[in-house]
Amino acid sequence: MICVSKKKSYLKSQNLKIFGQGKLNGRVKISGAKNSALVLLAASLLTNERIILENVPRLTDIEKMGNILKNLGVNLVDKNNKIEIDSKNISVKELPYELVNGLRASFFCIGALLSKFGEAKVPLPGGCNIGSRPIDEHINGLKALGAEILIEEEIVKAKIKGKKNKLYGTDIKLKCPSVGATETLIMAASLAEGRTTIENAAREPEIQDLCQMLNKMGAKIYDAGKEKIIIDGVNKLGGCTHKVIPDRIEAGTFLIAAAATSSSITISPVIPIHLEAVTNKLQESGSKITIKGNSIKIKGKEIKGVDIDTAPYPGFPTDLQAPFTALMTIANGESRITETIFENRMNHIHLLKKMGASIKLNKNVAYIKGVKTIKGMDLVGSDLRSSAALIIAGIIAKGISKVYGLEHLDRGYENFESKLKMLGIKIAREFNKRTLTRSECKIDSEPKEIIDLRVA
Ligand code: EPZ
Repeated sequence: MICVSKKKSYLKSQNLKIFGQGKLNGRVKISGAKNSALVLLAASLLTNERIILENVPRLTDIEKMGNILKNLGVNLVDKNNKIEIDSKNISVKELPYELVNGLRASFFCIGALLSKFGEAKVPLPGGCNIGSRPIDEHINGLKALGAEILIEEEIVKAKIKGKKNKLYGTDIKLKCPSVGATETLIMAASLAEGRTTIENAAREPEIQDLCQMLNKMGAKIYDAGKEKIIIDGVNKLGGCTHKVIPDRIEAGTFLIAAAATSSSITISPVIPIHLEAVTNKLQESGSKITIKGNSIKIKGKEIKGVDIDTAPYPGFPTDLQAPFTALMTIANGESRITETIFENRMNHIHLLKKMGASIKLNKNVAYIKGVKTIKGMDLVGSDLRSSAALIIAGIIAKGISKVYGLEHLDRGYENFESKLKMLGIKIAREFNKRTLTRSECKIDSEPKEIIDLRVA
Protein backbone atom coordinates (compact mmCIF):
# COMPACT_ATOMS: atom_id res chain seq x y z
CA MET A 1 0.00 0.00 0.00
CA ILE A 2 1.42 3.41 -0.69
CA CYS A 3 0.81 6.77 0.69
CA VAL A 4 -0.25 9.01 -2.14
CA SER A 5 0.59 12.60 -1.50
CA LYS A 6 0.20 15.57 -3.70
CA LYS A 7 3.95 15.83 -4.13
CA LYS A 8 5.21 12.62 -5.75
CA SER A 9 8.77 13.62 -4.80
CA TYR A 10 8.28 12.14 -1.33
CA LEU A 11 8.87 8.71 -2.80
CA LYS A 12 12.40 9.66 -3.78
CA SER A 13 13.18 10.36 -0.14
CA GLN A 14 11.70 7.16 1.26
CA ASN A 15 13.73 4.03 1.77
CA LEU A 16 13.32 0.47 2.89
CA LYS A 17 15.52 -0.37 5.87
CA ILE A 18 16.39 -4.07 5.76
CA PHE A 19 18.08 -6.13 8.47
CA GLY A 20 20.16 -8.69 6.56
CA GLN A 21 20.58 -12.46 6.74
CA GLY A 22 16.84 -12.85 7.04
CA LYS A 23 14.74 -15.97 6.61
CA LEU A 24 11.32 -16.29 4.99
CA ASN A 25 8.69 -18.61 6.30
CA GLY A 26 4.98 -19.17 5.62
CA ARG A 27 2.57 -18.34 2.79
CA VAL A 28 2.34 -15.24 0.64
CA LYS A 29 -0.59 -14.12 -1.53
CA ILE A 30 0.35 -13.20 -5.08
CA SER A 31 -1.40 -10.12 -6.50
CA GLY A 32 -2.92 -9.65 -9.93
CA ALA A 33 -0.48 -9.15 -12.80
CA LYS A 34 0.54 -5.52 -13.41
CA ASN A 35 1.36 -6.17 -17.07
CA SER A 36 -2.00 -7.79 -17.64
CA ALA A 37 -4.10 -5.24 -15.75
CA LEU A 38 -2.52 -2.36 -17.68
CA VAL A 39 -3.39 -3.75 -21.11
CA LEU A 40 -6.87 -4.85 -19.95
CA LEU A 41 -7.52 -1.25 -18.88
CA ALA A 42 -6.48 -0.09 -22.37
CA ALA A 43 -8.73 -2.74 -23.96
CA SER A 44 -11.74 -1.39 -22.04
CA LEU A 45 -11.70 1.54 -24.51
CA LEU A 46 -12.91 -0.85 -27.22
CA THR A 47 -16.47 -1.06 -25.88
CA ASN A 48 -19.25 1.29 -24.80
CA GLU A 49 -20.43 -1.21 -22.25
CA ARG A 50 -19.25 -1.76 -18.69
CA ILE A 51 -16.02 -3.63 -17.99
CA ILE A 52 -15.39 -4.92 -14.46
CA LEU A 53 -11.80 -5.93 -13.71
CA GLU A 54 -11.16 -8.00 -10.58
CA ASN A 55 -7.91 -8.86 -8.81
CA VAL A 56 -6.33 -5.59 -9.97
CA PRO A 57 -3.12 -4.83 -8.05
CA ARG A 58 -2.90 -1.45 -6.28
CA LEU A 59 0.15 0.06 -7.97
CA THR A 60 1.18 3.52 -9.11
CA ASP A 61 1.26 2.31 -12.74
CA ILE A 62 -2.38 1.21 -12.46
CA GLU A 63 -3.28 4.52 -10.83
CA LYS A 64 -1.57 6.38 -13.72
CA MET A 65 -3.41 4.33 -16.36
CA GLY A 66 -6.68 4.99 -14.56
CA ASN A 67 -6.01 8.73 -14.62
CA ILE A 68 -5.30 8.57 -18.34
CA LEU A 69 -8.62 6.83 -19.02
CA LYS A 70 -10.49 9.33 -16.83
CA ASN A 71 -8.84 12.14 -18.77
CA LEU A 72 -10.33 10.66 -21.96
CA GLY A 73 -13.78 10.89 -20.41
CA VAL A 74 -14.00 7.31 -19.18
CA ASN A 75 -16.04 6.79 -16.02
CA LEU A 76 -13.72 4.71 -13.84
CA VAL A 77 -14.57 3.58 -10.31
CA ASP A 78 -11.67 2.18 -8.33
CA LYS A 79 -12.91 -0.15 -5.58
CA ASN A 80 -9.66 -1.36 -4.04
CA ASN A 81 -8.73 -4.43 -6.12
CA LYS A 82 -11.74 -4.07 -8.41
CA ILE A 83 -12.12 -1.43 -11.13
CA GLU A 84 -15.36 -0.64 -13.00
CA ILE A 85 -14.91 1.08 -16.35
CA ASP A 86 -17.54 2.72 -18.53
CA SER A 87 -16.18 4.15 -21.79
CA LYS A 88 -19.40 5.23 -23.45
CA ASN A 89 -18.76 8.94 -22.89
CA ILE A 90 -15.26 9.21 -24.21
CA SER A 91 -14.86 12.74 -25.52
CA VAL A 92 -11.14 13.08 -26.01
CA LYS A 93 -8.99 11.01 -28.35
CA GLU A 94 -5.67 12.52 -27.40
CA LEU A 95 -3.66 11.21 -24.48
CA PRO A 96 -2.18 14.06 -22.42
CA TYR A 97 1.63 14.16 -22.35
CA GLU A 98 1.94 14.86 -18.64
CA LEU A 99 -0.08 11.76 -17.80
CA VAL A 100 1.47 9.47 -20.40
CA ASN A 101 5.05 10.37 -19.61
CA GLY A 102 6.68 7.54 -17.65
CA LEU A 103 3.98 4.98 -18.36
CA ARG A 104 4.97 3.13 -21.53
CA ALA A 105 1.88 0.91 -21.33
CA SER A 106 -0.30 3.96 -22.03
CA PHE A 107 0.93 3.78 -25.62
CA PHE A 108 -0.96 0.51 -25.99
CA CYS A 109 -4.18 2.60 -25.95
CA ILE A 110 -3.46 3.70 -29.51
CA GLY A 111 -4.73 0.49 -31.09
CA ALA A 112 -8.00 0.61 -29.17
CA LEU A 113 -8.63 4.33 -29.73
CA LEU A 114 -7.81 4.13 -33.44
CA SER A 115 -9.93 1.08 -34.05
CA LYS A 116 -12.93 2.43 -32.19
CA PHE A 117 -12.84 6.12 -33.11
CA GLY A 118 -10.92 6.12 -36.38
CA GLU A 119 -8.24 8.37 -34.93
CA ALA A 120 -5.87 8.64 -31.99
CA LYS A 121 -3.09 10.91 -30.79
CA VAL A 122 -0.63 9.44 -28.31
CA PRO A 123 2.71 10.91 -27.18
CA LEU A 124 5.77 8.87 -28.05
CA PRO A 125 6.52 6.68 -24.98
CA GLY A 126 10.23 7.37 -25.24
CA GLY A 127 13.00 5.39 -23.67
CA CYS A 128 13.49 4.53 -20.03
CA ASN A 129 16.22 3.24 -17.75
CA ILE A 130 16.34 -0.19 -19.38
CA GLY A 131 16.52 0.77 -23.02
CA SER A 132 15.38 2.86 -25.99
CA ARG A 133 12.01 1.05 -26.12
CA PRO A 134 11.20 1.68 -29.83
CA ILE A 135 7.65 1.44 -31.20
CA ASP A 136 8.36 0.71 -34.86
CA GLU A 137 6.56 -2.65 -34.67
CA HIS A 138 3.43 -0.96 -33.35
CA ILE A 139 3.54 1.68 -36.10
CA ASN A 140 4.30 -0.71 -38.98
CA GLY A 141 1.51 -3.04 -37.91
CA LEU A 142 -1.06 -0.23 -37.64
CA LYS A 143 -0.05 1.03 -41.10
CA ALA A 144 -0.49 -2.50 -42.49
CA LEU A 145 -4.03 -2.46 -41.03
CA GLY A 146 -4.80 0.72 -42.98
CA ALA A 147 -3.81 3.53 -40.62
CA GLU A 148 -2.09 6.74 -41.66
CA ILE A 149 0.57 7.55 -39.07
CA LEU A 150 2.27 10.89 -38.60
CA ILE A 151 4.78 11.63 -35.86
CA GLU A 152 4.94 15.34 -35.16
CA GLU A 153 6.55 16.97 -32.13
CA GLU A 154 6.79 13.68 -30.27
CA ILE A 155 3.09 12.93 -30.83
CA VAL A 156 2.00 9.86 -32.79
CA LYS A 157 -1.04 10.89 -34.83
CA ALA A 158 -2.95 7.94 -36.25
CA LYS A 159 -5.95 8.12 -38.58
CA ILE A 160 -7.87 5.50 -40.53
CA LYS A 161 -7.48 6.18 -44.27
CA GLY A 162 -10.49 4.35 -45.65
CA LYS A 163 -13.90 6.01 -46.07
CA LYS A 164 -15.62 3.40 -43.90
CA ASN A 165 -13.56 4.53 -40.89
CA LYS A 166 -12.56 0.92 -40.37
CA LEU A 167 -9.21 -0.83 -40.33
CA TYR A 168 -8.79 -3.76 -42.71
CA GLY A 169 -7.54 -7.18 -41.63
CA THR A 170 -4.21 -8.24 -43.10
CA ASP A 171 -1.24 -10.58 -42.51
CA ILE A 172 1.44 -9.09 -40.24
CA LYS A 173 4.84 -10.57 -39.42
CA LEU A 174 6.64 -8.99 -36.46
CA LYS A 175 10.44 -8.66 -36.69
CA CYS A 176 10.63 -9.43 -32.98
CA PRO A 177 7.99 -10.93 -30.68
CA SER A 178 7.19 -7.59 -29.01
CA VAL A 179 4.66 -7.92 -26.16
CA GLY A 180 3.34 -4.40 -26.53
CA ALA A 181 3.17 -4.45 -30.31
CA THR A 182 1.31 -7.77 -30.25
CA GLU A 183 -1.19 -6.27 -27.77
CA THR A 184 -1.61 -3.03 -29.72
CA LEU A 185 -2.27 -4.92 -32.96
CA ILE A 186 -4.65 -7.46 -31.40
CA MET A 187 -6.75 -4.58 -30.03
CA ALA A 188 -6.69 -2.73 -33.35
CA ALA A 189 -7.54 -5.86 -35.36
CA SER A 190 -10.40 -6.90 -33.08
CA LEU A 191 -12.71 -4.27 -34.67
CA ALA A 192 -11.18 -4.34 -38.17
CA GLU A 193 -12.94 -5.60 -41.29
CA GLY A 194 -11.90 -9.18 -42.01
CA ARG A 195 -9.11 -11.47 -40.78
CA THR A 196 -5.73 -10.43 -39.37
CA THR A 197 -2.90 -12.82 -38.63
CA ILE A 198 0.09 -11.84 -36.52
CA GLU A 199 3.15 -14.00 -37.09
CA ASN A 200 6.08 -14.08 -34.67
CA ALA A 201 3.58 -12.85 -32.08
CA ALA A 202 4.63 -12.60 -28.43
CA ARG A 203 3.26 -15.53 -26.39
CA GLU A 204 3.34 -14.06 -22.87
CA PRO A 205 0.53 -15.05 -20.44
CA GLU A 206 -0.54 -11.40 -20.28
CA ILE A 207 -1.37 -11.56 -23.99
CA GLN A 208 -3.37 -14.73 -23.43
CA ASP A 209 -5.22 -12.93 -20.62
CA LEU A 210 -5.97 -10.00 -22.94
CA CYS A 211 -7.35 -12.33 -25.64
CA GLN A 212 -9.46 -14.17 -23.08
CA MET A 213 -11.07 -10.92 -22.00
CA LEU A 214 -11.55 -9.69 -25.59
CA ASN A 215 -13.22 -12.98 -26.54
CA LYS A 216 -15.54 -12.58 -23.53
CA MET A 217 -16.39 -9.16 -25.01
CA GLY A 218 -17.33 -10.82 -28.31
CA ALA A 219 -14.03 -10.75 -30.18
CA LYS A 220 -12.99 -13.66 -32.37
CA ILE A 221 -9.34 -14.35 -31.50
CA TYR A 222 -7.74 -17.76 -31.98
CA ASP A 223 -4.39 -19.29 -30.92
CA ALA A 224 -3.42 -16.68 -28.35
CA GLY A 225 -0.15 -17.85 -26.80
CA LYS A 226 1.03 -19.38 -30.07
CA GLU A 227 3.45 -17.81 -32.55
CA LYS A 228 0.69 -17.04 -35.01
CA ILE A 229 -2.47 -15.40 -33.70
CA ILE A 230 -5.65 -15.08 -35.79
CA ILE A 231 -8.15 -12.27 -35.25
CA ASP A 232 -11.45 -12.10 -37.15
CA GLY A 233 -12.69 -8.52 -36.78
CA VAL A 234 -16.21 -7.93 -35.43
CA ASN A 235 -18.45 -4.87 -35.58
CA LYS A 236 -18.85 -4.28 -31.90
CA LEU A 237 -17.53 -5.45 -28.57
CA GLY A 238 -19.59 -5.74 -25.39
CA GLY A 239 -18.87 -5.50 -21.71
CA CYS A 240 -17.73 -8.26 -19.35
CA THR A 241 -16.28 -9.07 -15.95
CA HIS A 242 -12.72 -10.37 -15.97
CA LYS A 243 -10.33 -11.46 -13.25
CA VAL A 244 -6.68 -10.51 -13.82
CA ILE A 245 -4.26 -13.46 -13.82
CA PRO A 246 -1.74 -13.76 -10.96
CA ASP A 247 1.52 -11.84 -11.39
CA ARG A 248 4.16 -14.37 -12.49
CA ILE A 249 6.95 -11.82 -12.00
CA GLU A 250 5.97 -11.02 -8.41
CA ALA A 251 5.62 -14.78 -7.81
CA GLY A 252 9.08 -15.44 -9.25
CA THR A 253 10.55 -12.65 -7.13
CA PHE A 254 9.32 -14.32 -3.93
CA LEU A 255 10.58 -17.75 -5.05
CA ILE A 256 14.01 -16.25 -5.72
CA ALA A 257 14.03 -14.50 -2.34
CA ALA A 258 13.24 -17.83 -0.65
CA ALA A 259 15.99 -19.64 -2.58
CA ALA A 260 18.47 -16.90 -1.68
CA THR A 261 17.79 -17.29 2.05
CA SER A 262 17.45 -21.12 2.06
CA SER A 263 13.89 -20.57 3.23
CA SER A 264 10.71 -22.54 2.78
CA ILE A 265 7.59 -20.66 1.62
CA THR A 266 4.39 -21.28 -0.30
CA ILE A 267 3.12 -18.81 -2.89
CA SER A 268 -0.44 -18.70 -4.28
CA PRO A 269 -2.48 -18.13 -6.29
CA VAL A 270 -0.22 -18.77 -9.27
CA ILE A 271 -0.54 -20.44 -12.66
CA PRO A 272 2.48 -22.79 -12.44
CA ILE A 273 3.01 -23.10 -16.20
CA HIS A 274 3.60 -19.32 -16.31
CA LEU A 275 6.64 -19.83 -14.07
CA GLU A 276 8.06 -23.00 -15.62
CA ALA A 277 11.28 -21.43 -16.90
CA VAL A 278 11.89 -19.92 -13.46
CA THR A 279 11.05 -22.98 -11.35
CA ASN A 280 13.19 -25.14 -13.67
CA LYS A 281 16.19 -22.85 -13.11
CA LEU A 282 15.63 -22.74 -9.35
CA GLN A 283 15.49 -26.56 -9.26
CA GLU A 284 18.66 -26.74 -11.39
CA SER A 285 20.28 -24.44 -8.87
CA GLY A 286 19.35 -26.72 -5.95
CA SER A 287 15.94 -25.60 -4.60
CA LYS A 288 13.14 -28.12 -4.01
CA ILE A 289 9.93 -27.08 -5.76
CA THR A 290 6.52 -28.70 -5.14
CA ILE A 291 3.56 -27.70 -7.29
CA LYS A 292 0.02 -28.33 -6.02
CA GLY A 293 -2.88 -26.84 -8.02
CA ASN A 294 -2.48 -23.07 -7.95
CA SER A 295 0.27 -22.99 -5.35
CA ILE A 296 4.01 -23.54 -5.43
CA LYS A 297 6.08 -24.50 -2.39
CA ILE A 298 9.80 -23.87 -2.49
CA LYS A 299 12.40 -25.20 -0.07
CA GLY A 300 15.65 -23.35 -0.59
CA LYS A 301 18.68 -25.53 0.05
CA GLU A 302 22.16 -25.14 -1.34
CA ILE A 303 22.53 -22.67 -4.22
CA LYS A 304 24.49 -23.89 -7.24
CA GLY A 305 25.61 -21.42 -9.89
CA VAL A 306 23.52 -21.79 -13.09
CA ASP A 307 23.50 -19.92 -16.41
CA ILE A 308 20.54 -17.80 -17.53
CA ASP A 309 19.74 -16.37 -20.97
CA THR A 310 16.65 -14.21 -20.89
CA ALA A 311 14.20 -14.86 -23.73
CA PRO A 312 10.62 -14.13 -24.81
CA TYR A 313 8.02 -16.38 -23.15
CA PRO A 314 8.16 -19.30 -22.51
CA GLY A 315 11.87 -18.57 -21.98
CA PHE A 316 13.38 -17.11 -18.81
CA PRO A 317 11.68 -13.70 -18.30
CA THR A 318 13.82 -10.59 -18.60
CA ASP A 319 11.84 -9.12 -15.68
CA LEU A 320 13.38 -11.71 -13.32
CA GLN A 321 16.95 -11.39 -14.59
CA ALA A 322 17.97 -8.84 -11.96
CA PRO A 323 16.43 -10.71 -8.99
CA PHE A 324 18.03 -13.97 -10.17
CA THR A 325 21.40 -12.23 -10.52
CA ALA A 326 21.16 -11.23 -6.84
CA LEU A 327 20.62 -14.90 -5.98
CA MET A 328 23.66 -15.98 -8.01
CA THR A 329 25.99 -13.61 -6.08
CA ILE A 330 26.11 -16.13 -3.20
CA ALA A 331 25.85 -19.33 -5.24
CA ASN A 332 28.45 -22.12 -4.96
CA GLY A 333 30.43 -21.82 -8.18
CA GLU A 334 30.12 -19.69 -11.27
CA SER A 335 27.17 -18.46 -13.30
CA ARG A 336 26.63 -16.48 -16.47
CA ILE A 337 23.64 -14.18 -16.85
CA THR A 338 22.86 -12.94 -20.36
CA GLU A 339 20.25 -10.25 -20.97
CA THR A 340 19.03 -10.61 -24.56
CA ILE A 341 15.85 -8.49 -24.53
CA PHE A 342 16.83 -4.99 -23.36
CA GLU A 343 20.07 -3.20 -24.10
CA ASN A 344 20.46 -1.55 -20.71
CA ARG A 345 19.07 -3.81 -18.04
CA MET A 346 22.21 -4.49 -15.96
CA ASN A 347 21.99 -1.36 -13.74
CA HIS A 348 21.99 -3.42 -10.56
CA ILE A 349 25.37 -5.07 -11.25
CA HIS A 350 27.60 -2.20 -10.05
CA LEU A 351 25.72 -1.99 -6.76
CA LEU A 352 25.87 -5.75 -6.18
CA LYS A 353 29.63 -5.48 -6.76
CA LYS A 354 29.87 -2.67 -4.18
CA MET A 355 28.17 -5.05 -1.73
CA GLY A 356 31.00 -7.51 -2.33
CA ALA A 357 29.67 -9.65 -5.18
CA SER A 358 32.28 -10.93 -7.63
CA ILE A 359 30.90 -10.03 -11.08
CA LYS A 360 32.54 -9.23 -14.40
CA LEU A 361 30.20 -7.40 -16.77
CA ASN A 362 30.81 -7.47 -20.49
CA LYS A 363 28.01 -5.56 -22.28
CA ASN A 364 24.86 -7.57 -21.42
CA VAL A 365 26.62 -10.61 -20.00
CA ALA A 366 27.43 -10.88 -16.27
CA TYR A 367 30.01 -13.50 -15.24
CA ILE A 368 29.48 -14.20 -11.53
CA LYS A 369 31.70 -16.05 -9.06
CA GLY A 370 29.67 -16.88 -5.97
CA VAL A 371 30.94 -15.44 -2.67
CA LYS A 372 30.21 -16.49 0.92
CA THR A 373 28.31 -13.32 1.73
CA ILE A 374 27.76 -9.74 0.69
CA LYS A 375 27.57 -6.71 2.97
CA GLY A 376 24.64 -4.40 3.56
CA MET A 377 24.81 -0.77 2.44
CA ASP A 378 22.74 2.13 1.08
CA LEU A 379 21.42 1.27 -2.38
CA VAL A 380 19.38 3.11 -5.03
CA GLY A 381 17.12 1.21 -7.40
CA SER A 382 17.05 2.64 -10.94
CA ASP A 383 14.16 0.65 -12.38
CA LEU A 384 11.36 -1.55 -11.16
CA ARG A 385 13.06 -4.93 -11.26
CA SER A 386 16.56 -3.80 -10.23
CA SER A 387 14.92 -2.36 -7.11
CA ALA A 388 13.48 -5.79 -6.32
CA ALA A 389 16.92 -7.31 -6.88
CA LEU A 390 18.51 -4.87 -4.44
CA ILE A 391 15.92 -5.72 -1.78
CA ILE A 392 16.76 -9.41 -2.20
CA ALA A 393 20.45 -8.49 -1.91
CA GLY A 394 19.68 -6.56 1.27
CA ILE A 395 17.88 -9.56 2.73
CA ILE A 396 20.88 -11.79 1.90
CA ALA A 397 23.55 -9.33 3.07
CA LYS A 398 25.33 -9.15 6.40
CA GLY A 399 24.26 -6.02 8.24
CA ILE A 400 21.73 -3.32 7.42
CA SER A 401 20.81 -2.03 3.97
CA LYS A 402 18.68 0.93 2.93
CA VAL A 403 17.10 0.75 -0.52
CA TYR A 404 16.05 4.06 -2.11
CA GLY A 405 14.26 4.70 -5.38
CA LEU A 406 10.98 3.28 -4.13
CA GLU A 407 9.09 5.21 -6.82
CA HIS A 408 10.23 2.39 -9.10
CA LEU A 409 9.31 -0.42 -6.73
CA ASP A 410 5.81 0.92 -6.01
CA ARG A 411 5.08 0.80 -9.76
CA GLY A 412 5.07 -2.98 -9.84
CA TYR A 413 4.98 -4.68 -6.44
CA GLU A 414 1.83 -4.41 -4.31
CA ASN A 415 2.52 -4.24 -0.55
CA PHE A 416 5.98 -5.69 -1.15
CA GLU A 417 7.54 -4.81 2.19
CA SER A 418 4.38 -5.77 4.09
CA LYS A 419 4.40 -9.20 2.45
CA LEU A 420 8.11 -9.67 3.20
CA LYS A 421 7.54 -8.61 6.83
CA MET A 422 4.70 -11.11 7.17
CA LEU A 423 7.13 -13.79 5.92
CA GLY A 424 9.55 -12.91 8.72
CA ILE A 425 11.89 -10.35 7.18
CA LYS A 426 12.84 -7.36 9.33
CA ILE A 427 12.08 -4.55 6.91
CA ALA A 428 10.58 -1.10 7.41
CA ARG A 429 9.66 1.75 5.11
CA GLU A 430 11.29 4.94 6.41
CA PHE A 431 10.68 8.51 5.45
CA ASN A 432 13.36 11.12 5.19
CA LYS A 433 13.90 13.64 7.97
CA ARG A 434 11.50 16.15 6.37
CA THR A 435 8.34 15.49 8.27
CA LEU A 436 5.37 14.92 6.05
CA THR A 437 2.30 16.74 7.24
CA ARG A 438 -0.55 14.39 7.97
CA SER A 439 -2.63 15.93 5.20
CA GLU A 440 0.13 15.07 2.74
CA CYS A 441 0.08 11.47 3.63
CA LYS A 442 -2.77 9.69 5.42
CA ILE A 443 -0.98 7.30 7.75
CA ASP A 444 -2.38 5.27 10.62
CA SER A 445 0.66 5.36 12.82
CA GLU A 446 4.11 6.87 13.14
CA PRO A 447 6.31 5.79 10.22
CA LYS A 448 8.62 3.81 12.49
CA GLU A 449 7.60 0.27 11.65
CA ILE A 450 6.00 -1.14 8.56
CA ILE A 451 2.95 0.98 8.13
CA ASP A 452 -0.07 -0.10 6.23
CA LEU A 453 -0.67 3.19 4.50
CA ARG A 454 -4.11 3.89 3.22
CA VAL A 455 -4.02 5.21 -0.30
CA ALA A 456 -5.03 8.83 0.07
C1 EPZ B 1 6.52 -5.52 -21.87
O1 EPZ B 1 7.18 -4.36 -22.31
C2 EPZ B 1 6.47 -5.41 -20.35
N1 EPZ B 1 5.73 -4.21 -19.97
C3 EPZ B 1 7.88 -5.35 -19.78
O2 EPZ B 1 7.76 -5.34 -18.36
C4 EPZ B 1 8.63 -6.61 -20.21
O3 EPZ B 1 9.96 -6.55 -19.73
C5 EPZ B 1 8.63 -6.70 -21.74
O4 EPZ B 1 7.26 -6.70 -22.23
C6 EPZ B 1 9.29 -7.98 -22.24
O5 EPZ B 1 8.67 -9.09 -21.70
C7 EPZ B 1 4.38 -4.22 -20.01
O6 EPZ B 1 3.76 -5.18 -20.39
C8 EPZ B 1 3.69 -2.95 -19.58
P1 EPZ B 1 8.60 -5.51 -25.85
P2 EPZ B 1 7.20 -3.98 -23.91
O7 EPZ B 1 7.89 -4.64 -26.82
O8 EPZ B 1 5.95 -4.41 -24.54
C9 EPZ B 1 11.97 -4.43 -28.93
C10 EPZ B 1 8.28 -4.63 -16.19
O9 EPZ B 1 9.34 -4.59 -15.53
N2 EPZ B 1 10.91 -3.70 -29.65
O10 EPZ B 1 8.27 -6.96 -25.79
O11 EPZ B 1 7.61 -2.57 -24.02
C11 EPZ B 1 12.38 -3.71 -27.66
O12 EPZ B 1 13.40 -2.77 -27.92
C12 EPZ B 1 8.29 -4.21 -17.63
O13 EPZ B 1 7.17 -5.00 -15.74
C13 EPZ B 1 11.19 -3.18 -30.93
O14 EPZ B 1 12.29 -3.34 -31.46
O15 EPZ B 1 8.40 -4.91 -24.39
C14 EPZ B 1 12.89 -4.80 -26.77
O16 EPZ B 1 14.24 -5.03 -27.10
C15 EPZ B 1 9.66 -3.75 -18.11
N3 EPZ B 1 10.20 -2.50 -31.57
C16 EPZ B 1 12.08 -6.03 -27.21
O17 EPZ B 1 11.44 -5.66 -28.45
C17 EPZ B 1 8.95 -2.30 -31.03
O18 EPZ B 1 8.09 -1.68 -31.68
C18 EPZ B 1 11.01 -6.42 -26.22
O19 EPZ B 1 10.17 -5.30 -26.04
C19 EPZ B 1 8.71 -2.83 -29.74
C20 EPZ B 1 9.69 -3.52 -29.07
